Amino acid sequence: MAKKAQATWGGRFSAGPAELMLKFSESVSFDSRLAPFDIQGSKGHSAMLAHVGILTAKERDAIHAGLNAILAEIQAGKFTWSTQLEDVHMNIEQALTKREPAAAKLHTARSRNDQVATDMRLYFKAACTDIIQRIDAAQRAILAVAEANPTVLIPGYTHLQRAQPVFVAHHLFAYLEMLQRDAERFVVVQDHANWCPLGSGAIAGTTLPIDREFTAKQLGFIDDAGRPRVTQNSMDAVSDRDLYIEFASACALVGVHLSRMAEDLILWMSAEFKFVDLPDAFCTGSSLMPQKKNPDSMELIRGKSARLQGNLHTLLTLAKGLPLTYNRDLQEDKPPVFDSHDQTAICLEVLAGTFAGMKFNEERCAAAVADPALLATDLADYLVRAGVAFREAHHAVGAVVKLAEQKGVPLDKLSNADVAAVHPNFGPDWSDSFVLAKAMARRTGTGMPGPAQVKRQLARWKKLLG
Ligand code: ARG
Repeated sequence: MAKKAQATWGGRFSAGPAELMLKFSESVSFDSRLAPFDIQGSKGHSAMLAHVGILTAKERDAIHAGLNAILAEIQAGKFTWSTQLEDVHMNIEQALTKREPAAAKLHTARSRNDQVATDMRLYFKAACTDIIQRIDAAQRAILAVAEANPTVLIPGYTHLQRAQPVFVAHHLFAYLEMLQRDAERFVVVQDHANWCPLGSGAIAGTTLPIDREFTAKQLGFIDDAGRPRVTQNSMDAVSDRDLYIEFASACALVGVHLSRMAEDLILWMSAEFKFVDLPDAFCTGSSLMPQKKNPDSMELIRGKSARLQGNLHTLLTLAKGLPLTYNRDLQEDKPPVFDSHDQTAICLEVLAGTFAGMKFNEERCAAAVADPALLATDLADYLVRAGVAFREAHHAVGAVVKLAEQKGVPLDKLSNADVAAVHPNFGPDWSDSFVLAKAMARRTGTGMPGPAQVKRQLARWKKLLG
């Protein structure tokens, strides 16, 4: 016996979809999270339909009341989602129709294609706000660690070899810069989301006298001056997925940044460095080795960044081969977007939590930064200040390093006579270059790790983050 035809689009069908097809094609299991945006969109659309006289005010009010009641049910966890009804849009429309006969007019001049595009744009605007707030919280947690450790110096590394000394605060401020650019990317994505696609219909708009600008205003798709922003091409509006890709890309970059921070902390916590201790609350033990304390939170952040890149790649590949306009493939755009949002959100939270309990081991940091070789460049600068060309100075200091190695003494423990023999411009004050405090104080330019700059950056970030 043939199955009952599908309620919303089944008119031209004599049989309903196979069970297997229903299972295969449903999206309500993941797109139900769009419900608040779908309801908001339907309220805006029905307000417009009443404004142009397609609905009566009474019908509009009945639709709005019904949608409000459905939203309350969903939020209370009392709404019954049905995979038979495919997606969030049809679940809500059917539930509304059962309550309210006027609901049969709600889908006038609308298609699920412009409906889902609208839901997603509303979703993206909210998701960007969410991520921006979490970036801000992570930045505050990092800033607090910088502020609590204003005098701690560590070696900065290039090629993972000790390079030059930096205040740990300066290192942490680098993270703040990275995250600040990330936040700015979400501001751009949010702006790109801020165009209303409703009225595009399935592909080619509608013959009915709708007012797209009215709908856009209702839904908050407006510019800074309050003017409505409506998409300018119906075909583009229902098929473009740039926004999804931009969002996933911004998330992937957050992932890359968090992963690099995580990698620093993992190294710093190892016995080889031992610069920091991470909080027990964000570490785990080994089921076999009783002594272990592992930085799992940071390792998972590093791992999840791979997943964020994968989601971006999924979306790029999904979109690339599709002829205009809507194709059902596009239903697959939501799981990677939602996953990128959720994983980015929790990674930022975990990073903030880990930083909040992190302690610097001042002794170990001081020991690591005490190596005078870290200031070999300063010794070259000493010669430059004495009028020596930098290449010649670099060469002379290289010879001094070699001599110290041969004699088996630290760089700063060579005698005045030893170094004067390498280059005549080494005066008796040559070893002054190795006084760490003086060396740091010489780094005065903007963006450098000198103490005055660190103080300035601390004040700047405190002001920026409020
Ligand atoms: N669930 C669908 C999606 O997410 C909604 C749009 C359906 N449109 C269609 N023509 N079947 O893409």
